Amino acid sequence: MQHITPNPNTLIWYDSDYISSPDEQLFNPAYWKAQNRVIGSAQGRGTTWFVETEHLPAALRHYRRGGLFGKLVRDQYWFSGWQNTRSFLEFSLLNKLAKANVNVPRPLAALAVRSGLTYRADLLSEKIANAQDLVAILQVGRIDSAAYHRIGAEIRAMHDAGVNHTDLNIHNVLIDDKNRVWIIDFDKCSEQSGDSWKQDNLSRLKRSFEKELGRYQIHWQPTDFDALLKGYQQGKQ
Ligand SMILES: Nc1ncnc2c1ncn2[C@@H]1O[C@H](COP(=O)(O)OP(=O)(O)O)[C@@H](O)[C@H]1O
Ligand SMILES: [Mg+2]
Repeated sequence: MQHITPNPNTLIWYDSDYISSPDEQLFNPAYWKAQNRVIGSAQGRGTTWFVETEHLPAALRHYRRGGLFGKLVRDQYWFSGWQNTRSFLEFSLLNKLAKANVNVPRPLAALAVRSGLTYRADLLSEKIANAQDLVAILQVGRIDSAAYHRIGAEIRAMHDAGVNHTDLNIHNVLIDDKNRVWIIDFDKCSEQSGDSWKQDNLSRLKRSFEKELGRYQIHWQPTDFDALLKGYQQGKQ
């Protein structure tokens, strides 16, 4: 990972294998629109823009707060050092996970812009090609036990790398057209020692299936989660 400081209030971290000229514009959706290089978008907390970068399609996300507090300050975070910014932390974590062969988007570049006591941040990561999230997939139909095994095994790989995914829900699990499972959205996640949080991750994921069953009538039943746990126990083959 390299970094540049275009001005004293701005830091860009990037992978020079993918980004040859790091610039604040890379994080500006209007820049990509003006060049006709927006290839799609997805709606989460805010809009994630899919853009065609020099080497590969990427996902551009601006960090936003949720909840009531978020309505007031939206996208500002207290600044407590560059190494503590959301974008730097997620970039670092994705790097570590990718090196540990966990299927996560490769981080391409991260931005933090300070203004006084606060900062705003953005992340550019590889777009997972031909993938859909589990909610979208299960709205269409069931998936088989082998697919649940693969989901469990990928989560196990993430845990073996020592990473606690504090927002492990089925919107943050993608499956691509080659049946590969991808885990995304590592904002606020971190490396952790010990084991107790691992069960918490799995319980949260199970609650997410139950919640979306009520909301979107996804094709899922509780025994499907047993298949996922079996895959978790076996690990990646
Ligand atoms: N790297 C990526 N590749 C493909 N799709 C992505 C990628 N990152 C995000 N998305 C899509 O954008 C949505 C929102 O992104 P996410 O990182 O989960 O942010 P948040 O949930 O905080 O809005 C995801 O649910 C997913 O559909
Ligand atoms: Mg998400």
